[in-house]
Amino acid sequence: MGSLRIAHRLEGLPPYVPGRRPERGETRRQARLASNEVPWPPQAAIVDAMKAALDGAHRYPDMQYTELRDAIAAHVGRPAGGVAVANGSTALLRDIVGALADPGSEVVFAEPSFPYYRTAAAANSAVPVAVPLRDHAHDLDAMRGAVTPRTRVVVICNPNNPTGTAYTNAELEEFLARMPEDVAVVLDEAYVEFAEDVNGLDLMDEHPNVIVVRTLSKAHGLAGLRVGYAVGDGDVMSHVSRLGVPFRIDGVAVAGALAALRPEQVAESARRVASIVAERAVLTEALRSRGWDVVESAANFVFLPLGESAASVAAACAAGGVLVRPIGGGIRVTVGSPEDTEHLLNALPALAHHPR
Ligand SMILES: Cc1ncc(COP(=O)(O)O)c(C=O)c1O
Repeated sequence: MGSLRIAHRLEGLPPYVPGRRPERGETRRQARLASNEVPWPPQAAIVDAMKAALDGAHRYPDMQYTELRDAIAAHVGRPAGGVAVANGSTALLRDIVGALADPGSEVVFAEPSFPYYRTAAAANSAVPVAVPLRDHAHDLDAMRGAVTPRTRVVVICNPNNPTGTAYTNAELEEFLARMPEDVAVVLDEAYVEFAEDVNGLDLMDEHPNVIVVRTLSKAHGLAGLRVGYAVGDGDVMSHVSRLGVPFRIDGVAVAGALAALRPEQVAESARRVASIVAERAVLTEALRSRGWDVVESAANFVFLPLGESAASVAAACAAGGVLVRPIGGGIRVTVGSPEDTEHLLNALPALAHHPR
């Protein structure tokens, strides 16, 4: 590099590592179980809405995203003034920290969890404070203990990526009751539709410091569209929206998102989610009966704690045409179709070769 200097706050910041995709030119059918996507293409009605929107691509979308925010507000049963939207929930996580943290403020999150929380802190000159999981779940006591007068944001990934553990609302209530009111508790609910008894929206009236972040990438099956939303205090959400790049969601994606939020499409997505939840039970049982340790999951993936062997097991799966994600001392396997399950079970190496 020449004389340019990278900002100090970015020193040592690891890049975001995406789940593995098929290599270019790969002709084998591969099971893509590395990125927690759903296995089906978007519903026809959603595709039709996007095709129709292409004719308006010479125009900018509505910069306030009023129609989309109204549709989300109706979907979640909260006022539209408390809804912010962006090109993926990842962008919202960054801008929520941006709206609340000053340089040197602390952002508390768990590890292993969604790796982007660290980036969201660093991008805003905040200090990342990682608290190790306990028994594969957020250690809520330790996280409360990590809160200092400098803490502005605590992130709970619920269900947690990559381990799939989740806290019910009742369990979170206790945690929230012990949090200072001026610390935002961001509940990242990217996978909430796959879980039971988890819904941060129901905690918000009692706890106005709760911000819920969700996405259309997972249960709505639109990861390629890049639409996420956050629900929280109106003033905070308005600052989050201000920080976002203008026109950050393109008009075609807006049309797709609006279609996805129509009652018939929501109902079809819910049916698909139910089939993933059923397949999760089948996959978990099949793996356990073969001797693998599987963490009980509330999401559309399961986590196998493998320690040192994670990389080699993931490589063996890839050789067998199944892409999984080595992460956080294990492998994370997205739950797909029954065919994907079969493909995975065939590709997994014999357990005996991989002692933990
Ligand atoms: C916990 C968690 N939060 C957020 C995201 C990002 O989702 P989006 O596609 O909306 O940016 C992911 C994606 O994998 C995730 O696992």
